[in-house]
Amino acid sequence: MGMQDRVGMKDLDAIVGRAAAEFAAAADPAALENAKARFLGKSGALSAFRASLGSLSIEEKKSAGKSYNSAVEKIEAALEARRAELALAKMDARLAEEALDVTLPGRGRGRGGLHPISRSWRRIEEIFASIGFEIADGPEIETDWYNFTALNNPENHPARSMQDTFYVDLKDESREGAGLPLLLRTHTSPMQVRYARAWVERFRGAPKVPPIKVIATGRTYRVDSDATHSPMFHQVEGLWIGEDVSFADLKGVYTDFLQRFFESEELEVRFRPSYFPFTEPSAEIDLQFGSGPLKGHWLELSGAGQVHPQVVRNFGLDPERYMGFAFGSGLERLTMLRYGIDDLRLFFDGDLRFLRQFS
Ligand code: DAH
Repeated sequence: MGMQDRVGMKDLDAIVGRAAAEFAAAADPAALENAKARFLGKSGALSAFRASLGSLSIEEKKSAGKSYNSAVEKIEAALEARRAELALAKMDARLAEEALDVTLPGRGRGRGGLHPISRSWRRIEEIFASIGFEIADGPEIETDWYNFTALNNPENHPARSMQDTFYVDLKDESREGAGLPLLLRTHTSPMQVRYARAWVERFRGAPKVPPIKVIATGRTYRVDSDATHSPMFHQVEGLWIGEDVSFADLKGVYTDFLQRFFESEELEVRFRPSYFPFTEPSAEIDLQFGSGPLKGHWLELSGAGQVHPQVVRNFGLDPERYMGFAFGSGLERLTMLRYGIDDLRLFFDGDLRFLRQFS
């Protein structure tokens, strides 16, 4: 019986062909090893052929054995080739996955910027520090005494209604004004009193109290809300007290400050008579702004004046000997004019499209 009758040579070629096709179809190493078992394994496609070899004549065995060996070699070669392909594909996939495009721009860190109000705050401190003013700050929750009474604004005085505020449901029993309510300060002016009293205390017993020269910037609060007023806003308080500090000094210092803040000597500044309980005389300081049809409009930037003798007395000083000026300016107003911002509420909306313009 010739071997063509059992598993013939043509079948061997077909097995090799099938093996090559299945190996090529194996998508990963596990599938490939399964396919290998189907052809080269113990009960694989070739084993029947191999088993049949035993019954052949020597001559037949020789040529059938050759064919068998060559079939096994071809299948093994196809297997190796596919293994190499899969290994390469795996490597390619991994390289692609871990690819690092060194030509991409770096991610960097998100860069923050200063809020325009903070920018003004710093500029103001730099300008005043450069002409010898100290920088101070103090509490936003204030006693009635410092916020009003010490500033010559007695309880039940109608001038208090100029500044309605938020009262805190607590009473301060420890200081002046014991039993009076605490409040959110309506202005930075209480810092005049706090700073001056601490200063005077420092020089108690000395023949002379050296000049008090300070600014204090911070948050202030009022029951107010529209395009030019917000319930929380910022002020900078200035105080200069000495033996001969006059209203003329106020005009000089403040005009110089404005010229440096706005980086212009061409400013139109106006000191307009006004009233504050803690100054006499009192003024409001306006700056002209705008061009074209807006030219000639004034925006109030600051209250100011010669410190009232009663307030000087509350500092712990003799008003016959010590005198000087004070001012309290709105940071939002200064900032609006500097950057041409027409609505105060933009400062507090947290809109990045607005804020990014300043960073
Ligand atoms: N505190 C006043 C206000 O908020 C502004 C002010 C006026 C401050 C006159 C002063 C001053 O220091 O002398 O309206």
